[in-house]
Amino acid sequence: MTQKILVLPGDGIGPEITAQASRILAACQARGLDIEVEEGLLGGAAYEVHGEPLPAETLEKAKAARGILLGAVGGPQWDKIEDLSKRPEKGLLGVRKQLGLFANLRPAITYPQLASASSLKPELVAGLDIMIVRELTGGIYFGQPRGIEERNGERVGFNTYVYSESEIERIGRVAFEMAHKRGKKLCSVDKANVLEVTILWREVMERLAPEYPDVELSHLYVDNAAMQLVRAPKQFDVVVTGNMFGDILSDAAAMLTGSIGMLPSASLNESGQGMYEPCHGSAPDIAGQGIANPLATILSVAMMLRYSLDEPALASRIEAAVGTVLDGGLRTADIALEGTRSVSTAEMGDAVLAAFEAQ
Ligand code: IPM
Ligand code: MG
Repeated sequence: MTQKILVLPGDGIGPEITAQASRILAACQARGLDIEVEEGLLGGAAYEVHGEPLPAETLEKAKAARGILLGAVGGPQWDKIEDLSKRPEKGLLGVRKQLGLFANLRPAITYPQLASASSLKPELVAGLDIMIVRELTGGIYFGQPRGIEERNGERVGFNTYVYSESEIERIGRVAFEMAHKRGKKLCSVDKANVLEVTILWREVMERLAPEYPDVELSHLYVDNAAMQLVRAPKQFDVVVTGNMFGDILSDAAAMLTGSIGMLPSASLNESGQGMYEPCHGSAPDIAGQGIANPLATILSVAMMLRYSLDEPALASRIEAAVGTVLDGGLRTADIALEGTRSVSTAEMGDAVLAAFEAQ
């Protein structure tokens, strides 16, 4: 059966990097992958055309797609939009919520070729391979009530941090399964010394643990987890946490690999439908210059093949092609070593495509 794929280039460097990833998708198609690819508008790009970041047309296409490949959304030109619901980021949050993409997988891997690019000492990060499992459709990002209102003569801002047991359980199961398939260690991150919602979080994780006897479950408060991530990151295998803590910790983890331009992510719902996007943002400062690193987006295609299209062999082939290109010394500016020439976005795309075809 032909599966539909939706490409949402988005803003900033989004169009440049998704263009390269689309070439890899086309190469997979040429090798027999039965997909139909279309494009849509999301974020600031959609706001400019439709006056909203998630037009109905895009949402329809997204619902019909098995896999969505997203570049990135946002940029300074939209930061002044007063109506928060019209900001580019709301387009992204809307797709996550509307499609029920509750499980966000964010690998933080140090590529051996890039260990020296980390802000930490190479020996602390060499071989690092963490999987952060972030809950993506609940928590304080979506909790009600929320708002800014006048109380006793001054403005008050408020949000609600809420998780139901069932929401905690379903993300917990994804994380336990993941740990079971990987290094058998799961660290759940909460703030159970202060916040009731995360006392419940910890209780549910404890309740699930006996069902996964080969997985060793531990707990850390989020402040300690942040410290441990920069102190001794290799102690972690799988980390599971809520939406906001996961947002913060995954940026930190990504950066310490020295290669945020290399890291893909997946956001999945219960039926395996997923949105795939690089962990980095829209990088408006370098947009349009043709120097952005397309590898995280290309690796996001690999994740799509693995998690939504059940094509692990093609996924491995893309990952191997990226490894070959790095081994060959090719670098975009963000991962370049001093004194070496860095290649353009398109040249990097060419090289990955050539390595993919050569296998
Ligand atoms: C991310 C981003 C988003 C988030 C923003 C753009 C809404 O930071 O995917 O981590 O906070 O989830
Ligand atoms: Mg973030």
